[in-house]
Amino acid sequence: MKSAADALARGELVVFPTETVYGLGAHGLMPSALTRIFRAKGRPTTHPLILHVAELEMATSIARAWPTTAEKLARAFWPGPMTLIVEKADHVPPEATGGGSSVGIRIPENAIALSLIRALGAPIAAPSANRYQTLSPTRAEHIDLDDVALVIDGGPTAHGIESTVIDARGPVARILRPGSLDVTRIRALLGDVDTTSVVPDAHSVHLAPGMDAKHYAPEARIFFAESKEAARHLLNEHPEKRVGLVSHTFTLEISLPFALRLPNDPEGYGKELFEALHRADAAGVQLLIVETVPATDRWWAVRDRLSRAAHRE
Ligand code: TXA
Ligand code: MG
Repeated sequence: MKSAADALARGELVVFPTETVYGLGAHGLMPSALTRIFRAKGRPTTHPLILHVAELEMATSIARAWPTTAEKLARAFWPGPMTLIVEKADHVPPEATGGGSSVGIRIPENAIALSLIRALGAPIAAPSANRYQTLSPTRAEHIDLDDVALVIDGGPTAHGIESTVIDARGPVARILRPGSLDVTRIRALLGDVDTTSVVPDAHSVHLAPGMDAKHYAPEARIFFAESKEAARHLLNEHPEKRVGLVSHTFTLEISLPFALRLPNDPEGYGKELFEALHRADAAGVQLLIVETVPATDRWWAVRDRLSRAAHRE
């Protein structure tokens, strides 16, 4: 821990686990270190980063103001898979915010992440530790980046889908990215929640930077199947392809180069989704048939990641 914190203090990059996905960490207030994140990921510098803090006090210290909406959400869901967008304090460098005046902040619920932040004594900026537009890493073995001083292996992550990003500046919380914190829990706390900003469908414009339609993409092309019959039909249509299957309610009684049945609940499914896509790629799958997941609030984050993974330009 000490050597990881020392590396961060010197402006180097450290990969560390959070409860959602692994993060590519840099000292959150050091412009030269932040610049290295964008280079290592191949990500446009206009995409803002999340600053990870260990306590509420550290969160408010990097915010210009702390609105009531932010206070309520923070008290209810931190530490946890939730990122709050608020106005940034003056000393937060533009490299952390994509040049904008707002900043994304979260307290992760992972002992390694928290002790690393405390050992550094400053916020850690961390995007997911994957190259731009590729699958997020949920295990240390998924990490494939240059310019990393150290990878801290914390085993498979607890949730497997990134944090829920919420604009907490106004009186009504606005979801910018669905994530591991279930929107039904946010609604239960606040009543009214604005969910219109997220456009999970592949062909619409993106409103939040870093929310391009193509994101989280595996090598395999994804086709959705509503039913077992539809999956069989797709399979028959592509005899020349190496086909894989990800389902959660049925199994096909034929041998495939890759077939995985995920849990039929959004938490269990979300935890295993990126690992499943990583494994499909490792198995050389060209066409991945994915059973359609329900269009309900509780499955929102999973559906969002799947639709982005399926998107091709
Ligand atoms: O679970 C997570 O959030 C992981 C772990 C490592 O904490 N991090 C993560 O970071 O997913 P990244 O950079 O891959 O995604 C951050 C998301 C992007 O969609 C970005 O647009 C949004 O948060 N975001 C960050 N700051 C923002 C801001 N000031 N305004 C609007 N969106 C912001
Ligand atoms: Mg990411």
